Amino acid sequence: MILPYRKVSIAPMMDWTNRHFRYFIRLITKYVNLYTEMISEHAIYHKRNSQKDLKHLLDYDSCEHPLIFQIGGSHIPIIKECVKIVEEWNYDGININCGCPSEKVFENQFGAILMAEPRFIANIVKEIKKVSKLPVSIKHRLGIKSNHLDKTHYEDLKEFIKICYNEGGCEHFIIHARHAYLGKYSPKKNRVVPPLIYEWVYQIKEEFPELMIEINGGIDNIQDILNHLKYVDAVMIGRAAYEDPYFLIDIDEVFLNQKNSLSRKEIFLKFVSYVLDQIDQGIYPHSVVIHTFGLFRGIKNSNKWKQYLTKELTNLKKYPIEKLPKELVYDILTKSLEILPEPIYEANRHTIVL
Ligand SMILES: Cc1cc2nc3c(=O)[nH]c(=O)nc-3n(C[C@H](O)[C@H](O)[C@H](O)COP(=O)(O)O)c2cc1C
Repeated sequence: MILPYRKVSIAPMMDWTNRHFRYFIRLITKYVNLYTEMISEHAIYHKRNSQKDLKHLLDYDSCEHPLIFQIGGSHIPIIKECVKIVEEWNYDGININCGCPSEKVFENQFGAILMAEPRFIANIVKEIKKVSKLPVSIKHRLGIKSNHLDKTHYEDLKEFIKICYNEGGCEHFIIHARHAYLGKYSPKKNRVVPPLIYEWVYQIKEEFPELMIEINGGIDNIQDILNHLKYVDAVMIGRAAYEDPYFLIDIDEVFLNQKNSLSRKEIFLKFVSYVLDQIDQGIYPHSVVIHTFGLFRGIKNSNKWKQYLTKELTNLKKYPIEKLPKELVYDILTKSLEILPEPIYEANRHTIVL
């Protein structure tokens, strides 16, 4: 079956859910499934003979488990090679991207356009299972529409799932509860304009009770997570986790019965040592710290804090990375917290009705 999946996941998000952000999220919650950003089949395949390049692409911290690798692609032999590599790197699962509406992705025949070809996707799943024991899931939309095709009816969605399950053996579907309009809206608009229809996802769970059905789209608080869990198996959170990550602080208490009492400032201070370690890996602090910028959302002076860090950390790029003084970085990061009000006890901010 579909282990070790948890009931809450953080969505794959390009340029956002890289390993720095995922490490940061783990300071807030140990519970959630983490996903990589979508990584294209070609990116891995072309680097397959260089351990150094693969490390750059695939490396992660052990705290990130359970960690699922999202692949974008449609060339079965290449995907199979990639999956073998991903398994060697001890990821906990493979997720196939059938939801991305970007024009570039669309032209390359992967992402949401693949929803038009359920038999083809089923075959990808089947072929992956021949070379790997990793659980395979599919992330997709309610349906798709372009100039040439219209697959926007509930029956199309049901058919997609039925075929991927019966013919491919896929047992885990993550459904972004919106349609995608290909060639009409940008990816950003495709995440906002098409309305959310959660009821279709609930109905799919009713019709396929044996499958793991995970809902995604517009979910940004713990109470709503719990409400969705009355109808589906799991909930995936995207933008809210990046833009306001501290709302996840109560997750461990709700799902693991382990309270995380760290304040926002304490979380940031714990992240400082990670930032300093990354300098040894040749990574400038700005590109790491930027992923924490949602931490003080809604708190007084949050914008000033971000502005201060942006200015000070960008300035550091004048140093060659090997000469960057860590004490200076430490001072900038810890001093930035003085801009913010004193921490109040913040964990368990939500009144949760179980
Ligand atoms: C910046 C950004 C990048 C994204 N990149 C990916 C991606 O690489 N793969 C994917 O399946 N979805 C991607 N998505 C879509 C999210 O995974 C998610 O399905 C979508 O944001 C809806 O969830 P939300 O309303 O909770 O944000 C991305 C979303 C954003 C905001």
